[in-house]
Amino acid sequence: MLDQRKRTIQEAETYIQTHLSLVNPEYRPAFHAVAPVGWINDPNGFCWFHGQYHLFGQYHPYSAKWGPMHWGHWVSPDLIHWEWAGVAMAPDQEYDQAGVFSGTALIENDVLIVMYTGVSLSPDGRLIQQQCIARSKDGYHFEKDPRNPVIRSEDLPADVPADDFRDPKLFRTPDGYRAIMAARNAAGGELLVYSSQDLASWKLAGTCTEGISRMLECPDYHRIDGKDLLVFCAIGLPEAPGHFPSPHTAVYMTGSMNDQYTAFQGISPEAVDMGLNFYAPQAADTPDGCILTSWMPGPGGTIPTDDLGHQWAGCMVLPRQLHIREDRLYQKPVEAVRKLRRNKISIHQVMEPDQPFIGSHGKCFEWELKLKADHSVRMELFRSEGNGFLVTWDPASGMLTMDRNGCGHDMSGKAPERVTAHLFTPGNAITLNIFVDTCTVELFANEGERVMSANVYPKGNTYTWAILSDGQFEITGDCYELAATTEV
Ligand code: FRU
Repeated sequence: MLDQRKRTIQEAETYIQTHLSLVNPEYRPAFHAVAPVGWINDPNGFCWFHGQYHLFGQYHPYSAKWGPMHWGHWVSPDLIHWEWAGVAMAPDQEYDQAGVFSGTALIENDVLIVMYTGVSLSPDGRLIQQQCIARSKDGYHFEKDPRNPVIRSEDLPADVPADDFRDPKLFRTPDGYRAIMAARNAAGGELLVYSSQDLASWKLAGTCTEGISRMLECPDYHRIDGKDLLVFCAIGLPEAPGHFPSPHTAVYMTGSMNDQYTAFQGISPEAVDMGLNFYAPQAADTPDGCILTSWMPGPGGTIPTDDLGHQWAGCMVLPRQLHIREDRLYQKPVEAVRKLRRNKISIHQVMEPDQPFIGSHGKCFEWELKLKADHSVRMELFRSEGNGFLVTWDPASGMLTMDRNGCGHDMSGKAPERVTAHLFTPGNAITLNIFVDTCTVELFANEGERVMSANVYPKGNTYTWAILSDGQFEITGDCYELAATTEV
């Protein structure tokens, strides 16, 4: 899927314009960032610049499958209304003609600086990943640095192969700059730290973390609530039911960076999100706090919008504000999503065993619920043809399960269809905030101590839902329809 041909921004824009009318909107989310046509994966260069949010992302306009990577671009005033801003970078240089891979942003002197991985192919067909810089004065048009690649494959330790060296997290330190990259050596994945005074010449300064899995991807680093947060994706994790949703999981560690910003000490890795579809998160420090977004559906599994010929694939999750309490990451959906609330229905009821609470809804809605129970409670979303999408809370074991088996179009492929998360604060009460947007389900439990995100492509047009249990349970809360951002 990688080739040597350079591609320009203009070529991509022309393709987009001439293919827009072929996109089938059936499953397109109403308030999540999606591409106008084509495939997206990881969020990149996420930042607040010139009074608005800029979100870039891995983008292949030419099909609903992964291919030679460009950077797509959205802007937003509030993290909910996302406007497509076109293609920001194309694989148009010798050093990135096989792909403009993931990277991050740094704002300095009113300039938006991004560092990304340029991928090229050697004459004998080997993949070469090197780190590059591009700058933008207006946030829309980028100039790639003539000195690129600034961290070359020759700068790698001898035991690190050039085909797994990517996804720089660029940040400023009191004595210059650091970039953390994902790499691997014979022992497994590691995060290498390079340092620089001028963004042009870099030297290896340390290894931030290692020994977690076969390979790592997409490192990110922030300081929140007086603690340091390191986030990365781990490929080939050992099985840990209830703690990692799959062998390819985005994980976090809270702890502290050393004074040289070259090594990290922290808790053992925990999943950022325990759902079926979440990968490559990236956070930005903004006036609204540290905000995280991420790619759904993540790697593995089949993608119905591709299989059905809808000409688009992938979206970014509902952005979340991050906090750290007692070494745990808490995620809260951004406030602006409340602007979309419509037609509130309040519930306060004690339900008898086997008497389901039943309702119906459209494709976009939010539940803000508190449940009290001794027996497990089952929430069945999207009951139409076939199975519903099940969320089960078991107070006795402190487990929360998502099960998509048999619900809507098949997504299984290599990916699991059912996942269970251990709650950190189990008990006989739980708060749940559930957001559904056409093909996404995002669930925040107990003020965001656990988050589970998944895609679902239900069949049919009208859906019923049900909440039920074998025992008595109490349900209190509000349900809302959510409007499309184009209507608000
Ligand atoms: C993660 C990832 C990154 C890479 C990008 C390529 O999903 O594999 O490591 O930069 O996607 O699209």
